[in-house]
Amino acid sequence: MKLGVNIDHVATLRQARKAMEPDPVEAALLAQKGGCDSVVAHLREDRRHINENDISRIKKQISVKFNLEMSMSRAIVNFAQKIRPDQATIVPEKRQELTTEGGLDVVRLKNKVKEVIEALSKKGIEVSLFINPETGQVNASRKAGAQAIELHTGVYANARTNRQRNRELKKINRCVKLGRKLGLTVNAGHGLTYDNVLPIASISGIEELNIGHSIVSRSVFIGMEKAVSMMKGLIS
Ligand code: PXP
Repeated sequence: MKLGVNIDHVATLRQARKAMEPDPVEAALLAQKGGCDSVVAHLREDRRHINENDISRIKKQISVKFNLEMSMSRAIVNFAQKIRPDQATIVPEKRQELTTEGGLDVVRLKNKVKEVIEALSKKGIEVSLFINPETGQVNASRKAGAQAIELHTGVYANARTNRQRNRELKKINRCVKLGRKLGLTVNAGHGLTYDNVLPIASISGIEELNIGHSIVSRSVFIGMEKAVSMMKGLIS
């Protein structure tokens, strides 16, 4: 199973003081050294952490896959077409949220999603849709023309009881199987930590886990390279 490391929160720390450090590009290079398979960054519409300059520099300097998380806004889609990340992950975005709270409603937004997938695919960008683990959303993603899906593991991560956690694991498992049957690449992520990643990493059929906050948090104490290599060790 592969590991994508989201370095947004290195930029969050930089923006806390509107300073020059820490540099998310340096974090991306250390994550690469630690063994990650891709670097992930979210260019938010409010630019609260990562900005266009970070994205251009990351894209130029890393040698692993670059996965740009993005909304479907016209300006962001235009930017992605210009930058051409290896992969774009479409996420829903709300200004007030602390983090991406839920998956993209592909069932409701199917026409818009299809249009954005076409615009990005035209530039050779692989498109993944960040969706809740619901079979209807998996089917709709395939119909919209996505090559990949990323299943939102936030409800699993925040579950307060074993019963709730197991129910969510079942839903994720079912969607992994369906996604694979439909020919989709299936990834997963959100809220995963060193403590809760194992049951998700044990699901066969998931290609890649995308993890940000927990790895960046640990890197404050032990360094990015070590934090990534620990997580990579756990999931493989
Ligand atoms: N995957 C997607 C699509 C996300 O939006 C995020 C958060 O930016 C993550 C994975 C990583 O989530 P976390 O920071 O909770 O590990």
